[in-house]
Amino acid sequence: MEPPTMNPVVEPLSWMLGTWLSDPPGAGTFSTLQPFQYLEEVYISHVGQPVLNFSFNAFHPDTRKPMHRECGFIRLKPDTNKVAFVSAQNTGIVEVEEGEVNGQELCITSHSIARISFAKEPHVEQITRKFRLNSEGKLEQTVSMATTTQPMTQHLHITYKKV
Ligand code: HEM
Repeated sequence: MEPPTMNPVVEPLSWMLGTWLSDPPGAGTFSTLQPFQYLEEVYISHVGQPVLNFSFNAFHPDTRKPMHRECGFIRLKPDTNKVAFVSAQNTGIVEVEEGEVNGQELCITSHSIARISFAKEPHVEQITRKFRLNSEGKLEQTVSMATTTQPMTQHLHITYKKV
């Protein structure tokens, strides 16, 4: 089957498209946690709709045991740089983030977060993410969060190469 033609609405985010693999491993941090490393595979695609589809799949660097997983959609408001990011995570949270794409950088912050009734504590209260394509053509993601016990602090930084 012919690959779908990209909808022009999502063209400003076309630099995110592809299959990406962490290189080097991602760095996890938080005031309450021992620093940790993780691997992550990322798939960002489109099917011709004015929306991107994504999945992020993290693995333990030594055992390859699956860790955090999330999937969802990235929407652009037509004729603007306004972006909405909708994600369901294996930890039992579903979140909507909103922000802007400027060149090859996307900055978003949580607008609403829902969680299952028995989600593990502490609960996340706010999330911000920055994606950018760096000068080496690698995708970078930085995630910060505030929880019920901690102020906004960086949780993740990772660089991905296209595979
Ligand atoms: C812990 C949220 C992505 C690995 C946590 C905690 C929260 C959280 C609230 C508890 C912090 C505390 O105890 O004070 C999130 C959110 C994510 C995310 C909202 C995405 C937006 C990831 C990813 C990894 C990861 C991609 C990669 C493996 C961990 C680990 C811990 C942790 C290892 C400590 C052990 C545990 O509580 O499971 N995360 N996380 N997280 N996170 Fe994340």
